[in-house]
Amino acid sequence: LTKFTLTCSAASSSSDPLLVKAARGDPVNRPPAWMMRQAGRYMAVYRKLAKKHPSFRERSETTDLIVEISLQPWKAFRPDGVIIFSDILTPLPAFGIDFDIEDVRGPVIQSPIRSEEGLKVLHPIDFDKLRFVGDSLKILRQEVGGHAAVLGFVGAPWTLATYIVEGGTTRTYTTIKSMCHTAPHILKTLLSHLTKAIADYIIFQVESGAHCIQIFDSWGGQLPPEMWERWSKPYIKEIVNLVKKKCPDTPLVLYINGNGGLLERMIDTGVDVIGLDWTVDMADGRRRLGSGIGVQGNVDPAYLFSPLTALTEEIQRVVRCAGPKQHILNLGHGVLVGTPEEAVAHFFEVARSLKFDTVSQ
Ligand code: CP3
Repeated sequence: LTKFTLTCSAASSSSDPLLVKAARGDPVNRPPAWMMRQAGRYMAVYRKLAKKHPSFRERSETTDLIVEISLQPWKAFRPDGVIIFSDILTPLPAFGIDFDIEDVRGPVIQSPIRSEEGLKVLHPIDFDKLRFVGDSLKILRQEVGGHAAVLGFVGAPWTLATYIVEGGTTRTYTTIKSMCHTAPHILKTLLSHLTKAIADYIIFQVESGAHCIQIFDSWGGQLPPEMWERWSKPYIKEIVNLVKKKCPDTPLVLYINGNGGLLERMIDTGVDVIGLDWTVDMADGRRRLGSGIGVQGNVDPAYLFSPLTALTEEIQRVVRCAGPKQHILNLGHGVLVGTPEEAVAHFFEVARSLKFDTVSQ
């Protein structure tokens, strides 16, 4: 890691992007806004480019394409956060696990890990194999020039393990959930390996230029809360510890899909901001989390299919419920395929027009 010249960003400064200020809890006059999956299939320019480059791995592992796709929503909508076009599975080959993304099935892992023997493929993360991520973050940081935050992201160990153990997307998580009881030591070894690799990967992203990192434990909400406490949280906590030692000023956001049953349990992971999915009312979320932590979210992505007046009112309601401190405006999950681009543009126009003194009373 010493070969990277950029260092973790220094303590807060007034030139930090709005999103970084809000994530840290510094005063801001409106909430910063970005959208999960803001680059992708709902955009015509993306679909056109994807036709020319039909392989997802090519699109997400070629510096020029990563930069171009990441900048598509930036150029069209000027969000306050520009997320690198990548995937939570992107770092897997750099520590021994190959994968593919198929059009209909989604992520596929040819050799799922379920045994002692399977663990043998794992090795420490090799950043030579992830140069396209480091290079892209560096370029994105120059391209957005401080006008927006550059966002990096990772998958949490549990969520990555669901793909690595099940071999792909699952509805029931039965293989990995039964492994918690039939082969706990194998799952623990896998999760510990992922923890170290992902912590190093976050530090690599920050040193390459990411202002802020989102940790996706998207499938953490599939566990009963008591199981999440044992099989996901300790590993997230360890990642936060390792990262905060090296990059104490980089805000970390934790998103779990379906986290209504987990909110209070997420607080002491040590992250700065908790993402709320749209099934949690923002006011309830704030009340349950207390004032010591930020929130992100949580407009239902389906509102982008509603009349723009309804969308405007919902954004204002969410912002009022979240209050003026430490809120990042976002959707409750990713933008849906088929979302009208006009609605996305409107979401960001409304976000930019907000002023806390007029909407927060
Ligand atoms: O959606 C979430 O809960 C976020 C976490 C997450 C990502 N990838 C982040 C991401 C998860 C769970 C994945 C796994 C994955 N990878 C899936 C979901 C499959 C399932 O199990 O339900 C899929 C379809 C992929 C492959 C993939 N990743 C595609 C086809 C794309 C292009 C964008 C699109 O949706 O068309 C991605 C990009 C991606 N995955 C981003 C992120 C944060 C891009 C950055 C962004 O714009 O937000």
